[in-house]
Amino acid sequence: MSPPKFGSIGFLADPTATLSAMRAQGPLIEVKLPILGRVRFAVTDAAVRALLKDTDTFVRNPKLATGKPMDRLYWWLPRSMRPLTLNMLVQDGETHARLRRHVDRAFARVTVDDLRPRIAAIADRRLDALAADQDIDLKAGYTRQVPFEVICHLLGIPEGDWPFFIKRLAPLSSANSIPSALWSILRLGAVHRRLRSYFARARGDGDLGGDRTLRAGLIGALVQIADTESGSLSEDELLSMAFMLFVAGHETTVHLIGDAIVALSERPDLRDRLRRAPDQMPLFVEEVMRFYSPVMMTKLLFATRDTTFMGQPVRKGERFSAMLIGGSHDPDRFPTPETFVPDRRPNPQLGFGAGPHVCLGMQLARAEAQITLSRLLDRYPDFALTRPVRWTARIGIRGPRELRVRLRPSG
Ligand code: HEM
Repeated sequence: MSPPKFGSIGFLADPTATLSAMRAQGPLIEVKLPILGRVRFAVTDAAVRALLKDTDTFVRNPKLATGKPMDRLYWWLPRSMRPLTLNMLVQDGETHARLRRHVDRAFARVTVDDLRPRIAAIADRRLDALAADQDIDLKAGYTRQVPFEVICHLLGIPEGDWPFFIKRLAPLSSANSIPSALWSILRLGAVHRRLRSYFARARGDGDLGGDRTLRAGLIGALVQIADTESGSLSEDELLSMAFMLFVAGHETTVHLIGDAIVALSERPDLRDRLRRAPDQMPLFVEEVMRFYSPVMMTKLLFATRDTTFMGQPVRKGERFSAMLIGGSHDPDRFPTPETFVPDRRPNPQLGFGAGPHVCLGMQLARAEAQITLSRLLDRYPDFALTRPVRWTARIGIRGPRELRVRLRPSG
């Protein structure tokens, strides 16, 4: 079989045939990817779970497996930007547990249920601003804006600064090569500096007086943990965590909501059903997660020793990744995986990962998707795509690049 092209239009539009051809080769397949090089992918439900849970054999930080520091993977990144790569997704063991514990505590300040009215208000405000009966990009005006504004609110970023961040972070999502990634990352210097200035404002350094909005958000909570518990979080870790929460906390949700709109655009009867029975929305969102898998694969993992895994020999230092979309389309776990079943139950989909790095924001992402879609359906149940879907050409991501639609008000 020729290597699967994860970013290809054919694969993104319908990955079923490629996924079953992969599984036919066994639970592990080898692929050569641009930028990342040779990677072995776990492609079945059992292999994905086993890979992500075996933290003795597979680690995130290459230094623990190969002795080569993380920097080697980011040779193309300016040195001043490297702290951004030290986030908890690429840490293991006690370091990861410490970072995750701090974010969990910061998150625990607000429950997702507390946030629901705020998410609904943000969605309504965005819907009010959309032009009806015209050809518009719903992604630019709605499905990107809502998760972006929710994460800004959660972090405690003053509202006047929201446009500053969206302008600089949006190009990151379309980067699909080293030059384009580098170009968009170079523009992040200002983001980096602004986040550091927030730490000072949350602390009330000099005559800043401790900004109340910042103190009330996640940034304030993390700064407080860093300052009151010695050795808890270094300044670079704080920066990398705030940045990661920013990006991981909205970009992926944008793709989930976009995928859901693609699914709904093809099924007018389902829109009616979800309007009449909103309690079905959570099951629908879960099936979008399974069927589309907005994040199709995990970060790299490195083997710490020579061993066997899923019956195949593994050499120390080899690179692995979990193909989440493969696991979520495994017929041994999901009957008729190639069919979109809006009320599928049970649905142990793998789109949020598994093991110690399982997504920390999954409940928030689910709530955002449910509310954003319900509000749209309430107001514009008859929306129609005006152009065929074009997919984001970024390896590992499955979401529409834009959503050209015409909104027709109900009644
Ligand atoms: C539909 C939306 C989302 C999807 C599909 C998604 C997916 C994922 C996946 C697959 C991982 C694990 C990656 C790996 O193992 O390499 C992950 C980790 C993570 N996600 Fe999400 N995510 C979503 C939304 C969010 C949101 C809203 C937040 C925060 C507000 C968030 C924060 C995180 C963090 C902090 C981690 C790292 C956890 C760790 O390393 O322990 N995610 N996410």
